Amino acid sequence: MAKYRIAWLPGDGIGKDVTDAARIVLDGLGVDAEYIHGDIGWEFWCTEGDPLPQRTLDMMAETDCAFFGAITSKGKDVADKELDPELQGKGYSYRSPIVRMRQLLDLYICLRPCKAYAGNPLNYKDGIDLVVFRENTQGMYIGVEYPQVPEEFYAVKGTEKLPRDAAISFRAITPGGSERIVRSAFEYAVKHNRKKVTAVHKANVLRQTDGVFMEAARKVAVEYPRIEFDNANIDAMGMWLLKNPFNYDVIVTTNLFGDIISDLCAQMVGGLGFGCSGNIGQDYAVFEPTHGSAPKYAGQYKVNPIATILAAKMMLDWLGETDKAAQLEGAVAAVIAEGRFRTYDMGGESSTLDMARAIADKL
Ligand code: IPM
Ligand code: MG
Repeated sequence: MAKYRIAWLPGDGIGKDVTDAARIVLDGLGVDAEYIHGDIGWEFWCTEGDPLPQRTLDMMAETDCAFFGAITSKGKDVADKELDPELQGKGYSYRSPIVRMRQLLDLYICLRPCKAYAGNPLNYKDGIDLVVFRENTQGMYIGVEYPQVPEEFYAVKGTEKLPRDAAISFRAITPGGSERIVRSAFEYAVKHNRKKVTAVHKANVLRQTDGVFMEAARKVAVEYPRIEFDNANIDAMGMWLLKNPFNYDVIVTTNLFGDIISDLCAQMVGGLGFGCSGNIGQDYAVFEPTHGSAPKYAGQYKVNPIATILAAKMMLDWLGETDKAAQLEGAVAAVIAEGRFRTYDMGGESSTLDMARAIADKL
């Protein structure tokens, strides 16, 4: 029996292209794992009314962690039309599988390291090395939304002037949820010799929810006197990050702000072709590239697999295979530095699989 059982979830669009690439390097490393395919993606929405079928969740329950490619999602108008006519009008509604996995499995950490590898022509500035800790289960992602104001809302003080046709989204932030994500950020800082943690928020406007987040952040920060702690408003943070990325180290923030700021950080180190994510809970995790499914490139083996390969590196770290993880990162860094293999986003013509093989050759 293999040492690890890994749920293998390519998804759709370029999801298969990039996960095929990741397998080349995982096999090259000789990881002792069994990879179990799981159905997930747009076609399962269209044919079954569920892009993340229960059988896939049941399979995942028997694995150590999951590796996920990418999935296409479309707006409600299109999604409803593409659903099998036999299923239409029966109450099916599309929900993002990755958001569901984060919530169902309580994967409360979204860890997104953003490192500018030397020689990457797409680096915004050489030497950038940031890590984003995004709270992954709460905030604007709880999925409580109304197309218009429910009548009973008007009983709540302060809502009198709300226009009846206002769509409403709820944002929920708990002290416990905030504390655990901030603590993970500080623990990471200690473990990886990072100097500073910056909490990002909008507490001047979202006084209650970000008030709770910042109170928890300040409380946790006191326990780590050796790590510098500061905070910034999300808007200012966007500006400061571009102006001086070297002022930041570990960033911790709520769900939607983390979604936004992690794309900004990824762009500073080469774009989404380099952005990798770990969705991490107490004893399960799902690793994925940060990018989407780029349907127009599906099956062409054209896109950059490095984000996905770095997600595999994160998975190895999480499994405790730290030597293999370091070996893999070294190989990625070497191929980038050498510059012989470059995918189209890097200005070259290497295919997804050529890039993966080049990395595997360096192992
Ligand atoms: C991400 C993505 C997801 C998110 C989408 C696909 C629902 O943008 O992982 O950052 O918003 O969290
Ligand atoms: Mg995002």
